[in-house]
Amino acid sequence: MPKVPELEKATVRIQQPERVLGTIRAIKEQGINKLQVISDFDMTLSRFGCNGRRCPTSHNILDNSRVISEDGKKKLRDLLHYYYPIEIDPNRTLEEKRPLMVEWWTRAHELLSQQKIQKGDIAQIVRESDVMLRDGFNELFDQLHKYNIPLFIFSAGVGDILEEIIRQANVFYSNVNVVSNYMDFDDNGVLTRFKGPLIHTYNKNNSVLQGTEYFQQLSTRTSIILLGDSMGDLTMADGVPSVENILKIGFLNDKVGVRSSRLASAPAFPRCEASGDSGEGQAAVPVIQGVQEILQAAGGCMEGLGVSAELPVRLGLCQGGY
Ligand code: TMP
Ligand code: MG
Repeated sequence: MPKVPELEKATVRIQQPERVLGTIRAIKEQGINKLQVISDFDMTLSRFGCNGRRCPTSHNILDNSRVISEDGKKKLRDLLHYYYPIEIDPNRTLEEKRPLMVEWWTRAHELLSQQKIQKGDIAQIVRESDVMLRDGFNELFDQLHKYNIPLFIFSAGVGDILEEIIRQANVFYSNVNVVSNYMDFDDNGVLTRFKGPLIHTYNKNNSVLQGTEYFQQLSTRTSIILLGDSMGDLTMADGVPSVENILKIGFLNDKVGVRSSRLASAPAFPRCEASGDSGEGQAAVPVIQGVQEILQAAGGCMEGLGVSAELPVRLGLCQGGY
C-alpha cells in the first residue's frame, strides 16, 4: 500500500485509510491524463480566517465594499446572521435547509441589485477586500495548468468576483472553468439582477449544470479529486458520466467539534470521521502535499511547491463523505 506521509499528519482525519490509499493508488496508476479536479471556491480555495478574523466570501466582498449603502450593508449583515447558522446547522436536514438557502440567496441578490453596482468597479472592490487564497493553492493552480489537468470551480458565490480574485492572483489559466452565480449588467454597466439558475450551497449538483457540456467533454477523465468545505459540496461531481476513482477532501472550517462528531455519526457518511483542530483552516499544506504526491506518481512533478510551514489546518479527509 503506498504511503502518503502528508496525509498522516494529526490534522488530517481519514475514516478508512486503506480505502483512501487504495483510491490514491488507483488515481496514480490511471495517470494525469485521466484526472480532473472539481473544487468549491469560498472557504475552500479561499481562506476562512486570518489572525483570528474571518475572511470574506465572494458575497461578503461586495457586502463590505464602499459601493454598498450603510442601510444595504446592515440588511445584508442581518441576512448573514440569520441564515449562516442555518447553513451549517448539523441538526437540520438538507431538505429543511434548501428552501431557506433559496430564500437567503434570493434576498441577498435582490438587495445587491438595488445598489447600482458598476461592472467597472469590480476589480477595485476585490483589490480593496481582505480576501486571500489558501496557502499553497497558487502552486496547485500552477501545477494543474502545467499538466493540463482541468479544474472545475463550482461555486454558490459570485462568479464575477471569484473570477476577479483568481485573475488578480494570476492563476486564471485556460484549464480553469467556473460555474457560479453571475451578475447581469445593463447597457450602462450597472448591475440589474443575477442570471439564473441560482446556485446555493445545497444544489451544487447536476440540476444546475443542465445545458453545459462540461463533464461530457471530459468523459475520459474518470479520476476525480474533489475539494470542498460544505456537505453540499459532496454532490459536485454527480454530473460526471463515469467516475472510476474519486477522492473527496473536505476542509472543516467552523464549529469543528460539533460538525465533526455529527458527520462521523451520520448514516449517510459511514466512512467519514471528519476532523479538525484549533486554527482557522488557513493552511492547505497537507492537502496540497498529498495532491502533489498523487500527481508526482501519476506522471507529473510538483517540485518547488514552496510550502512547508506547519500551520494549523482544519481538515477532514475521507472517501464517500468528509
Ligand atoms: P459555497 O462556498 O458552497 O460556494 O457557498 C458560498 C458561501 O457564500 C456560503 O457559505 C454562504 C455564503 N454567502 C454569504 O456569505 N453571503 C450571502 O449573501 C450569500 C447568499 C451566501
Ligand atoms: Mg465553500
